[in-house]
Amino acid sequence: MNPDPPVPDTKYILNDNQIPAAWLNVLPLLEQPMDPPLHPGTKQPLTPGDLAPLFPMALIEQEFAAQREIDVPGEVMDIYKLWRPTPLYRARRLEKALDTPAKIYYKYEGVSPAGSHKPNTAVPQAYYNKKAGMRRLATETGAGQWGSSLAMACEMFGLECTVYMVKVSYEQKPYRRMLMNSWGATVYASPSEKTESGRAVLAATPDSPGSLGIAISEAVEDAATHSDTNYSLGSVLNHVLLHQSVIGQECLEQMKLAGDHPDVVIGCFGGGSNFGGIAIPYVPLKQKGDAVRLLAVEPTACPTLTRGIFAYDFGDTAKLTPLVRMYTLGHDFVPPGIHAGGLRYHGAAPLMSHLLRHGVIEARAYPQNPVFEAALQFTRTEGILPAPEAAHAIRAAVDEALQAREEGRSRTILFELSGHGHFDLASYDRYLAGELQDFALPESEIDRAMAAVPNV
Ligand SMILES: Cc1ncc(COP(=O)(O)O)c(C=O)c1O
Repeated sequence: MNPDPPVPDTKYILNDNQIPAAWLNVLPLLEQPMDPPLHPGTKQPLTPGDLAPLFPMALIEQEFAAQREIDVPGEVMDIYKLWRPTPLYRARRLEKALDTPAKIYYKYEGVSPAGSHKPNTAVPQAYYNKKAGMRRLATETGAGQWGSSLAMACEMFGLECTVYMVKVSYEQKPYRRMLMNSWGATVYASPSEKTESGRAVLAATPDSPGSLGIAISEAVEDAATHSDTNYSLGSVLNHVLLHQSVIGQECLEQMKLAGDHPDVVIGCFGGGSNFGGIAIPYVPLKQKGDAVRLLAVEPTACPTLTRGIFAYDFGDTAKLTPLVRMYTLGHDFVPPGIHAGGLRYHGAAPLMSHLLRHGVIEARAYPQNPVFEAALQFTRTEGILPAPEAAHAIRAAVDEALQAREEGRSRTILFELSGHGHFDLASYDRYLAGELQDFALPESEIDRAMAAVPNV
């Protein structure tokens, strides 16, 4: 009798002791140096001391770090163990539905308590702030994923947490606010009456839907005006991307378990942290000649990477942050209220902008209807309901798989499913009712926003 053929694996799982012991810092590995961040007043290169009113010194050091690896502290590791290592799946049922020769793998970050990749950096940020003697952290949130993650991390380290939530998301997602409240955070719809910058926006545009740029101004101002409070950012900065490198490092091990290697690595792109997290560990391989493509996916309603300019700009609307060289749509850009609230940011991580500028990564944009279509195809085959942000990566993965089918060639696709969509059901409801609008930004709107980019 012939033995049964081996059953193919669907999940690739690591043990607790395989959580990366160190974060991977790509800064010292860059072939071309990055342009330095500038002080918003003097326009001179920023010094670590300039950031001290907002961040603890440990995180400032990580922002400029020259060493390739930085150890994950034990107290952070203990919390990572609550959900890390996250699973890597082979999407066999999706592959079959697409009738593609491509192999599709996805790394699922939605198993964290907050439902996305964001706690990977929320936990170390809360840890270093607590160690530095802070009492409270202030932050912004778009979709609510970051605010929830920081609320949880603050609760775990005994810190208070204040969240400025972009108004359109505050209204679209009441349950995200309730989740933040459950973890003990205070949440304000932004623009709010609580800060100078919020009041200024409300005076000019009383019905402003808010934007991440405005909410960042409010949180930075809150931190800068309270000595016991620091600011915390959920994406964009080097130290945030550093913390997220656990994602890609685990993928390297899990793809080995699968006996495979990606031809393309895909992630959605808001500020760049989840895409950076999965892509950064592949950068050194690419530098050694590996042909892997690194593909960032964004919405056509907020096409920072695909239609923005590469320039020095502010990270926020009120011009309180340092000037950083990045792809930007202009710091006063207010994107349409699409349902992927976490992808509505005018700028892009300077590190990822630098990699795009030098051709290490590539970018693509999609309108929201085809994104939701791919999200539902994924739900109906693989079971998980994705966050609308993460669904941008699914759309690109599906298109890569369909292209492989057309070419009649196999292709190994790895994408990050950065979060679940259990708090996004109202968006799915509207999609199913045929009520979602696609937005392609008119060139005039981009020209208008660009006029606001400072001449540095
Ligand atoms: C589920 C999910 N994925 C991705 C993002 C995009 O953020 P980033 O590009 O910083 O990872 C967000 C932002 O809120 C998110 O909630």
